[in-house]
Amino acid sequence: MRDFSAEPNAGAKVDTASYYIGAFTAVVMFSSYYWFYRVVLCLVIAFLGWCLSAYFTLLTFRDEKPNIPQKVRDPIPGKKWKDYNYKTDHEDSNIFFFMWLGQMSCLIAPYEILIYELSHDDLLNAQELNHASIQTEWNRKLEKDTGCPFYSFWQVKVWKHIMFNYLRVYSVRLNLAVGCALEAMFCWLVYLWNWNNGFIYRRMNVKTWVWTYHLLEEVEHTHISVPEMRQNLTTIEKIITWFIFDVFVVIPITLILVPIATTLYFPRRVFSFSGLQALAEFCLFCAVALPFAALGQFCEMVIGLNWKASCLEDLWNVWYETQYLRDCFEDGKEIFALNVPPECTAKNNAVLKTLSKVKNPFASTTKTRA
Ligand SMILES: [Fe+2]
Ligand SMILES: [Fe+2]
Repeated sequence: MRDFSAEPNAGAKVDTASYYIGAFTAVVMFSSYYWFYRVVLCLVIAFLGWCLSAYFTLLTFRDEKPNIPQKVRDPIPGKKWKDYNYKTDHEDSNIFFFMWLGQMSCLIAPYEILIYELSHDDLLNAQELNHASIQTEWNRKLEKDTGCPFYSFWQVKVWKHIMFNYLRVYSVRLNLAVGCALEAMFCWLVYLWNWNNGFIYRRMNVKTWVWTYHLLEEVEHTHISVPEMRQNLTTIEKIITWFIFDVFVVIPITLILVPIATTLYFPRRVFSFSGLQALAEFCLFCAVALPFAALGQFCEMVIGLNWKASCLEDLWNVWYETQYLRDCFEDGKEIFALNVPPECTAKNNAVLKTLSKVKNPFASTTKTRA
């Protein structure tokens, strides 16, 4: 495993950003209401214009297949996922962003286990089941190292409890819609983090291979997962889920839970000048990423647009070059074994048999991809 402690502080390399962030914070803090209002209004209009131009450039109504790897990353021979190194050095990271990744991991891990009920695709099943194992191991390790109950409380008692004991029991369709919302969100984050050769992801500087690997695979299967999951949902189901997921799940986690948990578990990091800077950067990240990802999600999930193949290929290439080569290679060798995904139909059918026909969203469909 790569020795992250030997890495130079990536945040220090891009320190000119601090001037821009400081200037923006100063405008916010010291300008009069008159100018503050006008500056913010201009920024919002420019931002929405930029978002629209991005969606027009990146999306299409056509169903395009990108030329990117379609294999599953498994542990190398002789190793299991639990043998990998999940230690995460957050010493030089943006501590709010670190907490955000941890909390999102708790939400995502149990959903990945439910993928058997959500997809008939071999690649998607194989990749997501691995993600469930890895994110769970990561949550356990984070809990052990930081004391914050990522695994025992947030993953098991909150999100897993809600998904397995409520959503799964009462509405597989709703589960499917939540899965679709999640799948339609990842690539927009990767797009933002790819900016300027991966500047934002490096700036946040959470030193782990876990998310770097996970997001590459999300890019690889997004052209399968989103179209498959949205096809049997009604428009009203998609709109309601999109709204509830973003407004009642993502926003509270990001804007309420993360600042509170960070303050509770890292008070010395938070109450310092660097903590103030980290908070300003995290707020800026949220102000851009949340609306950008949510509107992109809406375009895919509700309007039915797809990523252009060429844009997904660009996304994959930049992420691979700027992040994956650094985090997921050790002594020049990839830390995973790349395999053809195993056939999942038999296992899927066994699981789906336990669900009633009314609840089963795939009852009248056949396998969509060989
Ligand atoms: Fe995943
Ligand atoms: Fe996924």
